Amino acid sequence: MAKHEQAGQGTGSITLNDNSRQLQLELPVLKATQGPDVIDVRGLYRDAGYFTYDPGFTSTASCDSAITFIDGEKGILLHRGYSIETLAENSDFLEVAYLLLFGELPTEQQRAVFDEEIATHTMVDEQLIRFYNGFRRDAHPMAIMVGVVGALSAFYHDSLDIHDPDQRHIASMRLIAKMPTIAAMAYKYTRGQPFVYPRNELGYAENFLRMMFSVPAEDYRSNPVLSQALDRIFILHADHEQNASTSTVRLAGSSQANPFACIAAGIASLWGPAHGGANEAVLKMLMEIGSKDRIGEYIARARDKNDPFRLMGFGHRVYKNHDPRARVLRESAHAVLREMGSEEQPLFELALELERMALEDDYFIERKLFPNVDFYSGIILRAMGFPVSMFTVLFALARTAGWVSQWNEMISEPVQRIGRPRQRYIGYGPREFIPRDKRG
Ligand code: CMC
Repeated sequence: MAKHEQAGQGTGSITLNDNSRQLQLELPVLKATQGPDVIDVRGLYRDAGYFTYDPGFTSTASCDSAITFIDGEKGILLHRGYSIETLAENSDFLEVAYLLLFGELPTEQQRAVFDEEIATHTMVDEQLIRFYNGFRRDAHPMAIMVGVVGALSAFYHDSLDIHDPDQRHIASMRLIAKMPTIAAMAYKYTRGQPFVYPRNELGYAENFLRMMFSVPAEDYRSNPVLSQALDRIFILHADHEQNASTSTVRLAGSSQANPFACIAAGIASLWGPAHGGANEAVLKMLMEIGSKDRIGEYIARARDKNDPFRLMGFGHRVYKNHDPRARVLRESAHAVLREMGSEEQPLFELALELERMALEDDYFIERKLFPNVDFYSGIILRAMGFPVSMFTVLFALARTAGWVSQWNEMISEPVQRIGRPRQRYIGYGPREFIPRDKRG
């Protein structure tokens, strides 16, 4: 469906009360094709002299978008109209990346061209490799990612002109194609192992696993179960509407910064534990709980208002029902653990039991707290051999498809305005300057 096919405009009225005046305002209401309509407040300051106030943006739509739709009450996540469950079942990551970027699933021929384009860009400039040597070996791989992805702007001058659609396209292909190479190199560097070059005959996830885990001293054998599970994790993390990192990419892009700089900004935002780091916290919590007979104790702690403990991997700002991504991941966890043997099995069984008990508990039922995407992803990634420090890097790798799509959507809008929020000022008014020798 075209972006605004059902979208339209109506009006609504709003009454503002403050002590000094009462005001009745007619404000346009813009219709959405799905989800809540929005009140258009763009003229509010001009017409009434008020700003709106919404720290954390819980009630603010920052843009029009036709890419991803979430209905948190029903637990629905759609990309371009296709449910995440359908895509995870029937598609692969590159197809989803194509869908996010171009709006439709590719035909055979379009897919072949896309694969070829991505394959052409998987290598990085040899000079870029020197950047890695500038980092300490114990650097967090996300620190390396922020630096190296930002540095791409210094290498690919032929794709920096954001006003040229062809250059935007090449930059997008480069980012999606190079991200696995850059991420695997960050890991290899921190391990003190040689970098592994991409192999273009391999699938996207398979190629990444090989660049991560192969060493020159041995032959590397791909494992299709793991490649498929990782590809699915990439699909589940590819885009999620206007979250913090995506909004960061859009805000950076609104100043007409180049795409590599914008994606580096997105990576920086994702790095925070409130955004990309929760699956690590889930693992730590499960290890702390240790055995099924202690689950009750931790659920009681989560219920206790005097205890700051929260059940990690439970609850979501938007989903007040099952996070559809968590359900898909639970299945993937079964497949990966069957393949990798028993080492992670006890942790997984602990997680299953914790989920069961929490979902039967009144506290969690009343507050609509369900497992989120992070509840199972850490267990799967650890079972595959990824160190915890790489979890957020994998998230960044997958989310690049979404960031690039959202950035392209924004730049293609007919009218470009720099993002420039206002504030409620709560500091001093004008005051006299006091010379230093008179201050006391
Ligand atoms: N354990 C115990 N109580 C909880 C939890 C939890 N995990 N999450 C929310 N609550 C309670 C909270 O105490 C509050 O109770 P009351 O109404 O009695 O004060 C109520 O549920 C509503 O919580 P909230 O903090 O107002 O909800 P929020 O939308 O601001 O927070 C959240 C969402 C994800 C930050 C929160 O659920 C949380 O801290 N979860 C654990 C951390 C986690 O798993 N984060 C990953 C999120 S998914 C990331 C992604 O989509 O990319």
